[in-house]
Amino acid sequence: MKPTGPIPPWFAGDGPLTIAGSAAEDWAAEHGTPLFVYDFAIVADRVATLRAAMPDAVEIHYAIKANPHPPLLAAIAPLVGGLDVASAGELDKALVVKPAAHISFAGPGKRDRELEAAIRAGATINLESDGEATRALAIADRIGITPKLAVRVNPSFELKGSGMKMGGRPSPFGIDAPRVPALVRRLIDAGADWRGFHIFAGSQALDTAAIIETQAATARLARELADSAGAVPPLVNLGGGLGVPYFNGDTPVDVAAVGAALGEVLEPGWAYAIELGRWLVAESGVYLTRVVDRKESGGEIFLVVDGGLNHQLAATGNFGTVVRRNYPVAHARRGEATETVSIVGPLCTPLDRLADRIAFPRADVDDVVAIFLAGAYGPTASPSGFLGHPAAAEVLVSGDV
Ligand SMILES: Cc1ncc(COP(=O)(O)O)c(C=O)c1O
Repeated sequence: MKPTGPIPPWFAGDGPLTIAGSAAEDWAAEHGTPLFVYDFAIVADRVATLRAAMPDAVEIHYAIKANPHPPLLAAIAPLVGGLDVASAGELDKALVVKPAAHISFAGPGKRDRELEAAIRAGATINLESDGEATRALAIADRIGITPKLAVRVNPSFELKGSGMKMGGRPSPFGIDAPRVPALVRRLIDAGADWRGFHIFAGSQALDTAAIIETQAATARLARELADSAGAVPPLVNLGGGLGVPYFNGDTPVDVAAVGAALGEVLEPGWAYAIELGRWLVAESGVYLTRVVDRKESGGEIFLVVDGGLNHQLAATGNFGTVVRRNYPVAHARRGEATETVSIVGPLCTPLDRLADRIAFPRADVDDVVAIFLAGAYGPTASPSGFLGHPAAAEVLVSGDV
């Protein structure tokens, strides 16, 4: 038997699982399965918790790649200072809910048409290379618009303990720190509206001390780069990387401690942002999927459900994890665990395993299974076209927290 991760506190308990005050089984019956249910009250609670923890000089930005479901975007947009997008497609979605002045666009390989769309809209482009800077300046010149350009820095350090490291090594992301001051001068001299720095060192970190240390190093680096460039950045985006507890033994980040420590290292009068995806939305989501078949093989029980890695790749251990471990999972009616089961999706690949040999209550055909931590990197990070199954439904609801 293998352990599962901790059920988020909003969904803990013994009775039948409820989401936003209604039974998970009722949501499944109303909308069909597979289904992602996002409880916006939990998202709002996360934003408020972070806002209370962070110094006033630090804006909270939402990286919409984590969950760009349009109703969720519309609801979160007024609560955060900015939205970060990673493509022209995401830019279009963000522009529906937020003025361009509060949208930034990061990511390598921006095509000319994407740069042009961002410049025309008035969004900030986080430049990932000198070549991208040259193209952005040329496009801005051609269409006669002053571009808003920030410089994404590839720092010489990484976010220790993070699931995905994005610094401290040769990288497609950002410009190596020693080259940044010269680029800043070049942008300013070319007449661009230089918007500051974007420094993103990693993602999914749970080690509070490591996050504090990285944020201090990031703030220091921004100061050094600004000194060398001889210009004060209008905004320093410190990145993010706050993780959520997915697996057995994981514990939450102490955001109050992170905020207090950050307050000690900020430059007075400067404006900062942190940019988070999963920390704001992951815990709000539950993926509901129905048992289609119950079978035994080699003495093991398999519950074959109607959803799998085509919707929720991360829960199968195939998105950014080295060792496959179990997400938190529950029978929608809960009850005592009486047997050991594996929960697998309908795809014809051994990768499609949502839970591996877990203790579980008896579940039969048509019963509903809930997989937690489904609010981030679900449909948006899963190969929905693989094997031609229908897309999962998504619904935004709101309960009391
Ligand atoms: C530039 C950038 N911003 C934000 C994020 C969001 O990270 P997370 O969802 O872990 O907060 C990522 C993730 O890879 C990223 O690359």
